[in-house]
Amino acid sequence: MKIYCVIGDERVNRSLSPRMHNSVFSRLGMGSMYIAVNVNPATLGKAVDAMKCLGFSGVNVTIPHKEAIIPYLDCLSDEAATVGAVNTLVFQSGSAIGHNTDVGGFGDLLDFRGFNPEKSDVVIVGAGGAARAVICSLNDRGARITVINRTLEKTIKLTENLGGSPAPLEDAPKILEKAMLLVNTTDVSEDSGGSELASILKHAGPLRRLKLVIDINYGRTNNIWSLLAQRNTAEFHDGLYMLAAQARRSFNLWTGLKPDMNDFLSPLGLS
Ligand code: ATR
Repeated sequence: MKIYCVIGDERVNRSLSPRMHNSVFSRLGMGSMYIAVNVNPATLGKAVDAMKCLGFSGVNVTIPHKEAIIPYLDCLSDEAATVGAVNTLVFQSGSAIGHNTDVGGFGDLLDFRGFNPEKSDVVIVGAGGAARAVICSLNDRGARITVINRTLEKTIKLTENLGGSPAPLEDAPKILEKAMLLVNTTDVSEDSGGSELASILKHAGPLRRLKLVIDINYGRTNNIWSLLAQRNTAEFHDGLYMLAAQARRSFNLWTGLKPDMNDFLSPLGLS
């Protein structure tokens, strides 16, 4: 039996990836299995070696390991090297190769929404691994990007590296006025009280140019990004479609197969 997994921290136990991939394996009669594994950041290198030794057939990498795993890999795809983050491992002749299917997955979501960001102003909130993938995807599509983040130094470094303009969180209301697309890549989607980001968003607007708001998280109630979209009569999309799209791309790297998108969406209740 071929074994696949997703590695993350304790949050990995809530991942929908096992449900999605196991459903596709079963539908295609492949007799493979996909599990979630909680890996301590201190033993990440040992975990990569163990997965190689145990003959794992493929691995997804999620928060908080997407950037930290890079030093433990044998090589990177060009895309993963540009992004500086890895969400998929392929094992080939004893080597662990890092790929990034989040870039393509985000592009698939834009295509699904029929949204072309070329020469449009796009605002990305956050400056972590997820933001890096979104920036690369939007660079490929010719968007004008501004990155807003709580820690400005991180944003400056990120934009020097990948392109786009950096801006501090407090400038968000002004910068959002020109945005046609707004993408949240932080894990803040709810107003749990005391969140500076939530409070800034509450007072932003009216945002007359805003057409689409994407929150790459999913399953969040009282979503502050959805409320912002509603207030400004913009469309809203959460991260479920992107989750399915990146999974399909990882599946293709592991198996060479490209099952129908609905095979990945239906286990999420989406098709
Ligand atoms: P990922 O790999 O999923 O992108 P990450 O690398 O931990 O995760 O990045 C998370 C991003 O969300 C960071 O940019 C973080 O801001 P900082 O750079 O200031 O740490 C942002 N973030 C997390 N919690 C936040 C909060 N409560 N308010 C604003 N930004 C937050």
